[in-house]
Amino acid sequence: MANLTKPTQLLGQSTYFSQMLEQISLLAPLNKPVLIIGERGTGKELVAERLHFLSTRWHGPLVKLNCAAINDNLLESELFGHEIGSFSGASKKHTGRFARAEGGSLFLDELANTSNLVQEKLLRVVEYGEYETVGGQKTLTSDARLIAATNEDLPKLVEQKRFRADLLDRLAFDVITIPPLRYRREDILLLAEHFAIRMAGELQLDYFAGFSEKARQTLLEYSWPGNVRELKNVVERSLYRQQDPESELQHIVFDPFDSPFRPAQSIQMSEKPPESQNNDLNSDIQAYNWPIDFSQLSAEYEIEMIKAALKQSRYNQKQTAELLRVSYHQLRGYLKKYKLLDSLKHD
Ligand SMILES: Nc1ncnc2c1ncn2[C@@H]1O[C@H](COP(=O)(O)OP(=O)(O)OP(=O)(O)O)[C@@H](O)[C@H]1O
Ligand SMILES: [Mg+2]
Repeated sequence: MANLTKPTQLLGQSTYFSQMLEQISLLAPLNKPVLIIGERGTGKELVAERLHFLSTRWHGPLVKLNCAAINDNLLESELFGHEIGSFSGASKKHTGRFARAEGGSLFLDELANTSNLVQEKLLRVVEYGEYETVGGQKTLTSDARLIAATNEDLPKLVEQKRFRADLLDRLAFDVITIPPLRYRREDILLLAEHFAIRMAGELQLDYFAGFSEKARQTLLEYSWPGNVRELKNVVERSLYRQQDPESELQHIVFDPFDSPFRPAQSIQMSEKPPESQNNDLNSDIQAYNWPIDFSQLSAEYEIEMIKAALKQSRYNQKQTAELLRVSYHQLRGYLKKYKLLDSLKHD
């Protein structure tokens, strides 16, 4: 059966990424199980696709199953299939994923979340290529190559007795560990441009005008805990929110929840009634040791207010200006005057 799904291109040119591609090319043609380990959003599914399409099984099916998405009983019948009447609700015979992946590859995502029973059955298929359907008497043989993925540290789960050591041994003929984006900064701008150009097409813009120098720096300096998926979202969000699509993209929107109207923040702001703020000010004034250094104290007060507003707005300058009811340009003036520009690097 020809597999017509076209794999999405895996982009990257950093050393770590190229080494990983090299390992995939070597591993793909071997008829052995593979384990893919990577933080969320690093591209585990794309790596699995590449392994399949570079293998001799590329013309066979690539069947995918997310083990965390269904409960243990259903997972067993989803993997191995079931017979009519094997449990209440089993009114029809069900072909399992192993059977559907015959001659091709079976990608099991989030493998760490499987029960001991499922792991035991998996062990047997990996070791002997044999299994039974749920409620079935006959032993079936499987010729599907297993590609498993997880973002957990499986050897540690084995130590904690949460994952079977024997299954890990069989699965881990070799392991592909995908480097997180923060360890391959050379890939950030390449991926960002790629996602921006695709998004510009989706927004029906004539072209993507590129990132400003500052936006580029911002993208490069961020730590990307959600890896490529997060980068894709951030770039797409920043582009669609951009007011003038013909000019360079300046403002990178990391956090879609970032708003002065976030519920927890408005509670904080209304905690102190205005009178008590005045009372505090009065008591402060009474505590002054006259005469005072008016310029020095005013400057300190302004710095304190600006720092508090920056923190409140999570270092978003536009919102900081709004919180202080000054214009963006005035805020920039204050930041320069008080040498606070460095504090913006905080995240
Ligand atoms: N190197 C890459 N080149 C192009 N796109 C990529 C690359 N890596 C990841 N992506 C894209 O990033 C997104 C996340 O990738 P994928 O779903 O494979 O991640 P994952 O590791 O399976 O994440 P999770 O653990 O959260 O399921 C997808 O849209 C994918 O197309
Ligand atoms: Mg995934």
